[in-house]
This record gives sequence, C-alpha cells and structure tokens, in this order.
Amino acid sequence: VAKTIGIGMIGCGTVGGGVARLLHDMADTYTQRVGAPIALRRVLVRDPGKHRDALRGVSNAADLLTADADAFFATADMPIVVEVAGGRGVVSQYVRRALSMGKHVVTANKALLAAEGGELFKLAHENQAAIAFEASCAGGIPVITALQFGLMANRIQSLHGILNGTCNYILTEMTQKAKSYAVALKEAQDAGFAEADPTLDVSGGDAAAKLAILAALAFGVRIDADQVWTQGIDQLDLVDIKLGAELGYDIKLLGIAQHGQDGAVSVRVHPCFIDARTLLAQVHGPFNALLVSGHAVGQTLHVGRGAGELPTASAVVSDILNLASGWYAQAFARMRLWPDTQTPARMVSADDLVSRFYLRVNALDKPGVMAQITRILGEAGISLSAVMQHESAAGRMVPVVITTHAARQGAVQGSLQRIAGLDVIEGRPVCIRIADLPQG
Ligand code: NAP
Ligand code: HSE
Repeated sequence: VAKTIGIGMIGCGTVGGGVARLLHDMADTYTQRVGAPIALRRVLVRDPGKHRDALRGVSNAADLLTADADAFFATADMPIVVEVAGGRGVVSQYVRRALSMGKHVVTANKALLAAEGGELFKLAHENQAAIAFEASCAGGIPVITALQFGLMANRIQSLHGILNGTCNYILTEMTQKAKSYAVALKEAQDAGFAEADPTLDVSGGDAAAKLAILAALAFGVRIDADQVWTQGIDQLDLVDIKLGAELGYDIKLLGIAQHGQDGAVSVRVHPCFIDARTLLAQVHGPFNALLVSGHAVGQTLHVGRGAGELPTASAVVSDILNLASGWYAQAFARMRLWPDTQTPARMVSADDLVSRFYLRVNALDKPGVMAQITRILGEAGISLSAVMQHESAAGRMVPVVITTHAARQGAVQGSLQRIAGLDVIEGRPVCIRIADLPQG
C-alpha cells in the first residue's frame, strides 16, 4: 500500500466540516482514485472544545483539533495544508508559513487571493509548492479548472457571472416569494452560504474578489479586487425589481469582465437587469453561473451550487486529490498562468464603461416634465430605448422609468445629477445597468 498522504486543515466550520465529512465517508474511493490513502493529520481552529458535528464519525477527532499554530505546523507527514478559515491577517501568515515550508496549499479564500495572490503565488513558486483554489470562486462549479485548463486554447473575450450565492438567494426570495431583504439574508446565513461578515456578500465585495481572480486567469493579466468597480444589492428597492419585470427583465448581481480588442480590461460587479428568457436568468437561489465567451469555443455556461457545505467541500477535496495524484503540482510549477507571472491589467475607467441603463425618477405628473428629463439625456447623447409611466392622479409624484441604448456610464451619471436637480423631481434617481448577454 502506498504511503498515506497527510492533510493539515486550518478551519473546521461550514466548509472545513464538509471536507472532513467527505475525507471520512469517501476514504476508500479516494484511495482508489489517487493510489494512496488520504488522511487528516491535524486541524487548527480557534476553539478546539467546540462541538463539531462533522467530526462525529472520526475516531481520533479530539487528537486532531488544536488551537496551537506551532503544534499544527510541527505535525509530521503533512505535505498538504487546506485553508478554510477565511479572512486575511493571521490566516495569511499561516498560508505563507505553509508555503515557506514547501507545503502545497488548498484554499477557498477569495478575499486573500484577490488581495495578496501575486505575493502568495510567487512564494509558492519559490518554494516548489503549489496553490490550488477551485473553491475560491463559484463554490462547487469547476470554473477555475475550466479557465486554467479546459478552455486554454481560447482567447477569452468576456465573463458574465452570478458569483455570490447569498445575493442570488436573497434576490430570488425577494423576486419570487416577495420576502423582505432582511428575512432572506438571515435564511442565507442560517444555510451557511454567507461569509462570517455578510456585508462582504451584500456589498458585492465577495463577488468582486472572485471576478478579479477569474478575470486574471481568463485574460492573463494581474487584477486586484479594488480595481473592480463594485456596487452591492443592499440599496436595491423592490419597486425596481417589479418595474424591471414588467419590461421583461430579471435582476441579478452580475460580475462582468471584458477584454477589448485594444487589450484594455473592464471589470465590474453590480445589480443588473438581464432578459428573463436567458439561461442565466433561470439560475436561482444559492446557485452560481459563469458564462464564458471564447474566440474558438463561443459561449460556455457553467452552472451549479455556488455556496454551502458539501458543494464547496467538493471543490476543496477535488483540489486535494489533484495535488495528491501529483499532476497539479507539476502543472503549477511549469505553467505561467498565475498572477505573479503576469503584467498588471490596463483598465477601462469607470466613466468609460459602456452599458444599457434602467433609470427611475419620481417625477411630478404635469405637462412638460417628461420633456425636461429626456432633453437632459438627449443633450448628453444618450439614446432612449423605452419610456414607462403608469397612470396616476394628475399633479401627483409618479415613478418614470426610462431604459437607454448603450451609453457611457460617465454621461449617464452626469445626466442623473442634472435630473435630480430639477424642481419637479423628488428623491434620488435610481440607475441599474442592463446587460445584453453575448449570444452564439
Ligand atoms: P466558518 O463556518 O466561519 O468557519 C471558519 C473556521 O475557521 C472555523 O472553524 C474557525 O474556528 C476557523 N478559524 C477562523 N479564524 C481562525 C484562526 N485565526 N485560526 C484558526 N482557525 C480559525 O467559515 P466557512 O463558511 O467555512 O468559510 C471558510 C472559507 O471558505 C472562507 O474563506 C469563505 O470565503 C470560503 N468559502 C465559503 C463558502 C460557503 O459556502 N460557506 C463557499 C466558498 C468559499 P472555530 O470553529 O474554532 O471558530
Ligand atoms: N459567501 C459566499 C457566497 C460563499 O454566498 O457565494 C461562496 O463563496
């Protein structure tokens, strides 16, 4: 029998619990697939005394758990370290320590990779170690594998992704069951989809980190999470979801990355209306999806569970098995796909981002008001696609909805400022982007 491959794990919460379960329940199958047994050697947590349901079937559970980082790193025969703790700070130090010792690292931590990926990949290459990170983006869907290897023959032109399970769950529950934002968020937290700090999800920050990683792999350039233009779902109003539906749109938090002919890159995460008849619009609840456009392949759509215990553990454990079987570390050493080997991206500025837009203003229902609004848009060269206003009692405030053809974001924002200044307008204008998805 081949020598057991020992795994050290940092964190044993939602994802770590799933990893422990799979390694225990599937042990014989994995031994067969990899050609050697895989075993958890040590698990570093904050509180080893906490009850952990996931370790119930593990005979040496009490011996595995420790809160002592030095004891963890002193554990013998532990060539692979799995980081499923999350966050940066001390967790970043642990990852660096593992890499410096030449250990391969499997991580689900997009926040860490999006901010420090360049340095971490460099450290890994210097120490003949590898970093595997399938679970960092889109949970159980193998999108990292697809971009790194399966679609390698392509020049990738764009990515359109539903990349945050918590936000997609909240939007689905609000749209389909008229639940409140707060109730839907609490349910996503209880189901284990949300980050420890759920503001990371609803602010769009989690999706931005994932998009930065995916776009860097797709376009072969270095992109930091703070270069992603980001807007969350926390300011969305149910009335816009309903008005958008009347126009044939579904609302999604979308990550969009485009690589122009001139090499410039645009990356953004924001709530977005998409045609309700598209496949992406059918992706509901905690499911994620990534639509990839490649010059040779055309469109490929990758759909699956983007968050939760076992779907995420599926990606983490697959990384462990790919490392244990040897091929991934060789690919990591030879290939030049990772951020430490890439030049920084040339970014399209936020003002120059081009999109279609849904605009809503609360306007006084009296003669000439619509003309004032449309004149301002016309003066900025913004062409209108549709205008909608429901009947109301004359002289009252009514929502006026306008959709535009493709326009520069800077021009739209400037026009909205002018419109907000009109004395016939009440409150802040609402502006939601409309994405026309690539076809073919
Ligand atoms: P979680 O349930 O909050 O679990 C975190 C675990 O890490 C806990 O066991 C905690 O120990 C341990 N931990 C935290 N800080 C630590 C430290 N400084 N030292 C040692 N242990 C520490 O988190 P999770 O949902 O499993 O997420 C973990 C990672 O996976 C995050 O990077 C997240 O972004 C990513 N991820 C999560 C999902 C998902 O669906 N949940 C999906 C994809 C990726 P105690 O148990 O003792 O408190
Ligand atoms: N909090 C994340 C989400 C977990 O809701 O998508 C998966 O990365």
